[in-house]
Amino acid sequence: MAEIKRISDPAEVQAIARQWKKEGLSIGIVPTMGYLHDGHRSLIHRACAENDRVIVSDFVNPIQFGPTEDLDKYPRDIEADTKLCSEEGVDIIFNPAPEDMYGAEGSFLTSVAVDKITKVLCGKTRPTHFQGVCTVVNKLFNISKADRGYFGQKDAQQLAVIRKMVKDLNIDIEIIGCPIIREEDGLAKSSRNKYLSAEERQAALVLSRSLRNARKALEEGERDADKLREAITAEIKTEPLSDIDYVSVVDAETLEDVSGKIQRSILVALAVKIGNTRLIDNFSFEL
Ligand code: PAF
Repeated sequence: MAEIKRISDPAEVQAIARQWKKEGLSIGIVPTMGYLHDGHRSLIHRACAENDRVIVSDFVNPIQFGPTEDLDKYPRDIEADTKLCSEEGVDIIFNPAPEDMYGAEGSFLTSVAVDKITKVLCGKTRPTHFQGVCTVVNKLFNISKADRGYFGQKDAQQLAVIRKMVKDLNIDIEIIGCPIIREEDGLAKSSRNKYLSAEERQAALVLSRSLRNARKALEEGERDADKLREAITAEIKTEPLSDIDYVSVVDAETLEDVSGKIQRSILVALAVKIGNTRLIDNFSFEL
């Protein structure tokens, strides 16, 4: 197996990708912000199994953070990330600096915005977030020339937004959504879990527990979206360290709120602050 290359220059990655395409090789991209955990590993593993060449981007994208968000605090460990990618057989870990992606301050003038589905759920409190995500993901698709892009179902709204962007802009890439990877006790794996104190880590289990109970209720025949939402909310409120951003039952595709009788496939999604750390989790239920 060839040794992994760590590259920061977008043009260099693009030139290699161009050559791979000429040789008829398929390319997978796994966009990440680094600090890789087993959730990322599962995406990378699948990308390596399904493509001739794999690029993992490792870039804390400043334009998807709001002014009060944790950009500077965001955890980074490029050596550990390179090791993980190398173990999985990744060809390139693309680790640009912000100026490699956006040039000198004030010189980057383009952005990609998806309307409507970016204004609900996380978009309500993070109004510029998805524009930053769509812009960087577009750049990553163009740089990598990938045939397939791998994204986690844990960021269900992000996955829906990217699928919509790809469809609306006829981007020639297949988007693969991969299941949520959890700790043994149920907490969804996330780079942000690192911020939790021992007490908060315990309190954070209320997210997955409340979703598990909601799924059980659905499986047992509950079809009232409002009752479901109320039950999840009530359960989360029993945890004193929690502060709910949203608990939503939405149409799985349009992300529009569902109330009353559930008649189509839904996404049950929540965002809850535990102490200062905002965590998200979700599940989909098909009808
Ligand atoms: O999900 C993430 O880590 C980021 O939003 C992404 C897709 C890598 C874009 O920066």
